[in-house]
Amino acid sequence: MKKGHFSKAGFILASAGSAVGLGNIWKFPYIAGDNGGGAFVLVYLLTVAFVGIPLLAAEIALGNMTQREPVSAFEHVAPSGKKQWRFAGFSFLGSFTLLTFYSVVIGWLYYYIYLTLFHLPTSIAEAEAAFMGLVTGDAITQIFFHALAMLTVALVVAGGIQKGIERINTFMMPALILIILVMFFYALSFDTFGKAVSFMFDPDFSKLTAYGVLVAVGHAFFTLSIGMAAIMTYASFSGKQTKVLSSSLWITGIDTAIALLAGLMMFTFMYNFGMDPQKGAGLVFISMPAVFYQMGAVGNVFAVLFFVALTFAGLTSAISILEPTVAHLEERRKISRTKAVWGSAAIIYLIGFFALLSQVKGFGFLSVGEKSLFDAIDLLSSSIMLPLGGLTLALFLGWVVDRHNLERFLEGHGFTKVIFNVWFFAIRFVAPVAITTIMLYSLFFGSL
Ligand code: PFF
Repeated sequence: MKKGHFSKAGFILASAGSAVGLGNIWKFPYIAGDNGGGAFVLVYLLTVAFVGIPLLAAEIALGNMTQREPVSAFEHVAPSGKKQWRFAGFSFLGSFTLLTFYSVVIGWLYYYIYLTLFHLPTSIAEAEAAFMGLVTGDAITQIFFHALAMLTVALVVAGGIQKGIERINTFMMPALILIILVMFFYALSFDTFGKAVSFMFDPDFSKLTAYGVLVAVGHAFFTLSIGMAAIMTYASFSGKQTKVLSSSLWITGIDTAIALLAGLMMFTFMYNFGMDPQKGAGLVFISMPAVFYQMGAVGNVFAVLFFVALTFAGLTSAISILEPTVAHLEERRKISRTKAVWGSAAIIYLIGFFALLSQVKGFGFLSVGEKSLFDAIDLLSSSIMLPLGGLTLALFLGWVVDRHNLERFLEGHGFTKVIFNVWFFAIRFVAPVAITTIMLYSLFFGSL
């Protein structure tokens, strides 16, 4: 039935590739910085452990058990009379909208590899001018690099599971991990490392707001690629050797380790050169280039490596974000993989094109209410579709599917009776409550 399968390690690497993305290196350090550090990181880690891992295991279980694309996977497992639950599989549409602007950011990263190869900005002011100039002033460069980014993603997915996706992850993931480790060990030699550790790990609850808690919970889902059927789709290409429990732990372990190592490394460097980690979204594109400049020759090399690592992180996630749509079109709608890839990539590119334009001066009319199209699509994907996908998945497995069938399946996947009960409790109660809270909050109080 399936045209390709991941090897056991290939599945873990590709799923870790999906999880480790822009969220880990771009978003995590700055939201941790914005929300006061330690206490935020603690909430994030607890959510990853108690809600993230159970939901990730749920996605892997559903994919592995059914060997089907998302809509058919839900349909297959739903008890008779409840087949309308197949609509929950359309959560893959969240990945479709996510990719429209995710690919724009990968385009910026391509440009930054080029930029840092030839000229590192010499000060924060120059770095800021370079970044703002790109995003708000230089549509042509963005359009060009965005096209290159989409082209790379489409080419890999068109190559199929083994020859495209597994192969690229087998190269990019070890390379990314190596780069982050080298930079982390270099950071260890700085006096400011201790300061970075205490910023990230000393919880000061007076700095944590209710809003900060919700950002931490939302990010825990985003970083594990939950709720958009990405890892569920990968799991539908995993074989009998793949075990749900150990795979979930591996994927989460790699994802969390990269976020923490990257955060520690970046804060160490920033403290050392007198920069404030609470600088918001410009951290990677503005503060870091200025920091690398001050490091001298090593910094020049590190700057390029850093943006290469970020690009690899982004690409391996973007690939997993395109695959669910392609798998759906190929398996359920019987469209050839080639047509499915290029057709959906073209539509995603076009929407991304308008999203990037919406931030350029003079294109303010491309907005939705008060938000630029770019921010509106981000809100729709990350704060509405992603939590909705996670919620329907949790409700489906926790309340609709026969509990004993689940238990029997998971027994063969490393779940003892106790582990199953803990997992089931998390899926049935904890996840729906946590997700409903963040959804209501972001609907009433704006984007997370
Ligand atoms: N986990 C990715 C990141 O941290 O950047 C983002 C992501 C990928 C979210 C795939 C959702 C998804 F389905």
